[in-house]
Amino acid sequence: MESNQRYTITSALPYTNGPIHIGHLAGAYIPADIFARFKRLSGNDVVYICGSDEHGVAISIKAKSENKTPKEIIDKYHKTIKDSFESFGISFDNYSRTSLPIHHKTASEFFIDLEKKNALEIKSSSQLFDPKENQFLADRFVEGTCPNCGYQHAYGDQCENCGSSLSPTDLINPKSKLSGEKPIKKETTHWFLPLGNYEKFLTEWIIKGKKNKWKANVYGQVKSWVDLGLESRAITRDLDWGISVPHKNGKGKVLYVWFDAPIGYISSTKEWAEKNGKKWEPYWKDSKTKLIHFIGKDNIVFHSIIFPIILKAKGDYILPENVPANEFLNLEGEKISTSKNWAIWLHEYLIDFPDMQDSLRYTLTVNAPETKDNDFTWKDFQARNNNELVAILGNFINRVLVLTHKYYNGVVPNEINKDNEDRDILNEVFEYPDIISKSLDKFKFRDGINSLINLARLGNKYLAEKEPWKLIKQNQDLRVSEIMFISLQICAMLAVLSEPFLPKSSEKIYGIMNLKKIKWNEIEKNKYLISPNEVVNAPELIFRKIEDDEIEKQLKKLKKN
Ligand code: 2FM
Ligand code: ZN
Repeated sequence: MESNQRYTITSALPYTNGPIHIGHLAGAYIPADIFARFKRLSGNDVVYICGSDEHGVAISIKAKSENKTPKEIIDKYHKTIKDSFESFGISFDNYSRTSLPIHHKTASEFFIDLEKKNALEIKSSSQLFDPKENQFLADRFVEGTCPNCGYQHAYGDQCENCGSSLSPTDLINPKSKLSGEKPIKKETTHWFLPLGNYEKFLTEWIIKGKKNKWKANVYGQVKSWVDLGLESRAITRDLDWGISVPHKNGKGKVLYVWFDAPIGYISSTKEWAEKNGKKWEPYWKDSKTKLIHFIGKDNIVFHSIIFPIILKAKGDYILPENVPANEFLNLEGEKISTSKNWAIWLHEYLIDFPDMQDSLRYTLTVNAPETKDNDFTWKDFQARNNNELVAILGNFINRVLVLTHKYYNGVVPNEINKDNEDRDILNEVFEYPDIISKSLDKFKFRDGINSLINLARLGNKYLAEKEPWKLIKQNQDLRVSEIMFISLQICAMLAVLSEPFLPKSSEKIYGIMNLKKIKWNEIEKNKYLISPNEVVNAPELIFRKIEDDEIEKQLKKLKKN
């Protein structure tokens, strides 16, 4: 098991133009959190970074639609989003905001430095302009028909239907989102990042270097971008919300949100370092550090091509070791859609299912869209919770603790002699840290959590076969204590190994068993996780069953939308 390795782990900075839903959680946050917890538990030096993405047209549009200022919007949703993350146990070391001065300063320095190094181009082009509102129509300020798939509500930067990345001038029949008018074209000057200059670099680094190392969905997307040829990308916009372009000719212009947002990972690390008396540089500049970006598939090009090019142009920064992007999660067979309110919002889930964060974490992990789009259904959520968390994991721990109290008043019995079969079981149990680590190292979170449940299955099978409740009636006390001793080791192992996946439940099991924190890299075969004469508390409920009417209520609520 790898330890003593430095990791910089990031999750995509969410836009603060609304709350977050289960698709976000499944895509970029739960897998990253599992990974960060796993790496910390294995004795590595981890900083897990995120923050709110508070610039961009999406914020301005939301502010307009709610008749509020952008600042009011970002403050409101920053809080909602941060609270949801905390409640779901997403263990960021720092959750920052791109509206903070530290970020404005860092992003501006990047721009100034790239400009000084002649790494940027300045070009004039004609762009869509709304004469009524006297404003250029960048990105989502314009909608129209997608030239690739014909979808009529494609945005100026992206078609949500076919996923293609667009420029406002690509749209057929463009319409201003501000006035509803047909835009005119007007000349304007912007700074561009000449992506084409980096084709050789990307070919060496990713196309040749990351083959079979990066997930096929990520590698494939990068390869097709590079194969098609990369064009220069504007990194400034004519807008009034964002980071002002730090240049004498930059009046009325701001940095493009996709230029500043990923730099937010760096400013968030700086903020964390300042708060904790640490240095941020090793996490971004030491070539031995592993940088891992967790994102959804719509962000692949920015994290695998554009941000690495920015880092490369800046020099002395490390590049991502991996970008394990997930595909999309659908809901009841349909695409999750904010505008159609076809979503499960985390803050609403928490009202209906308080204290059941781990049930959702479990379902979203076991059913994660790791290699293809996947579907979340409420019925599957109920079945996973009731048949797996309650009936397998919770049930095993409960049975062992009930029996330990019944036979020994909660005192862990002596191990005595253990028969051969017990030794085999123990050996098998102690292989699980490695089995799960191997899956997580390959970003196979589904396999990892399935192994965890398999360990609980193993425990249930062992108890069912050994039937200590029969043996105790036959006065085979020594044999019963052996069986209970082994079962308690399995419970302890479940506490330890469930921590990255189900942090709240793991804490409960730890608490009930009175265990001291055990690191994965300190687990040794032949060294028990819980010893004779230690005392465990009375069992309490770890997972509860979800009733049919709770699911019906959720389905009704969703269909009402
Ligand atoms: O897609 C999004 O929600 C973006 N706000 C992600 C930004 S990730 C990073 F670059 F900051
Ligand atoms: Zn399209």
